[in-house]
Amino acid sequence: MANNIVGILLAGGRGTRLYPLTKNTSKQLLSIYNKPLIYYPLSTLMLAGIRKILIISTKEDINNYKSLLGDGSQYNCDFHYKVQEKPDGIGSAFILGEKFIGKDNVFLILGDNIFHGDDFIKILRESINNFKSNTIFGYYVQNPNEYGVIQFENNEIVDIVEKPLNYVSNYAVPGIYLYDSSVINIAKSIGFSSRGEREITDINKYYLSQKKLNYKLLSRGISWLDTGTFQNMNIASNYVMTLEERQGLMIGAIEEIAFRMNFIKKNEYIKIIDEMPNCDYKNKLLTSIDN
Ligand code: G1P
Repeated sequence: MANNIVGILLAGGRGTRLYPLTKNTSKQLLSIYNKPLIYYPLSTLMLAGIRKILIISTKEDINNYKSLLGDGSQYNCDFHYKVQEKPDGIGSAFILGEKFIGKDNVFLILGDNIFHGDDFIKILRESINNFKSNTIFGYYVQNPNEYGVIQFENNEIVDIVEKPLNYVSNYAVPGIYLYDSSVINIAKSIGFSSRGEREITDINKYYLSQKKLNYKLLSRGISWLDTGTFQNMNIASNYVMTLEERQGLMIGAIEEIAFRMNFIKKNEYIKIIDEMPNCDYKNKLLTSIDN
């Protein structure tokens, strides 16, 4: 039997590039079209079949996440919360989550990353269910220098460079990472970068040096949207709106996903919808019940 899988959703950081929107709220609570940003990465975890999830945020914001998402039991999931005292890197999430992860495998997603596409979920489920090795993903972008970037030779990773100044490749590493529980000790061992963070790229480079790093490329039909700037938030909102208004079906609606994934039964789904105030979101969920 494969190890269990748990999820970590990292929703920390100050979101300073989005000031003043983030002056008194967390970036991942801001809206992308008709729902908070965090719904999208949370729905990715749920679609991947992950129900035990640790949400990490700042001490100022953690209670807002708790009141938004609760303990997850309404979706037959199990949500946990942890405060990250200072924004000291993605790698620190594994140390904060040490007890939560235990001996399980762990899938981490950044709270501001939006993914969409049927193939994407297939690739994720495949990687999780047939876990062989620690896995990162590669996605072709035209602005790789803003991300961690994979250098290939003969289809093998030879290096990963964080925000390279010179061209390495067009394959950025998106904010999704799959590891076994050894990642906890690796995170403890890597130390801090010049920007004061435990870099996820350093963890990946360590596994690469041990030949314990696998990768999967996300094909071009898959969308990976960034929400780091006002422009990108608008682009992401328009993307979601375009598809939702065309089909009348929602992207990233966690209640519907809990239902479609059979986490909850139809009567439980209807109860959740009934308790919502009258609104567009509720109407869309209502039409989803029998579609
Ligand atoms: C982080 C990682 C980077 C990765 C990116 C994905 O960048 O360090 O390797 O490509 O997330 O969103 P940051 O958001 O910390 O600049």
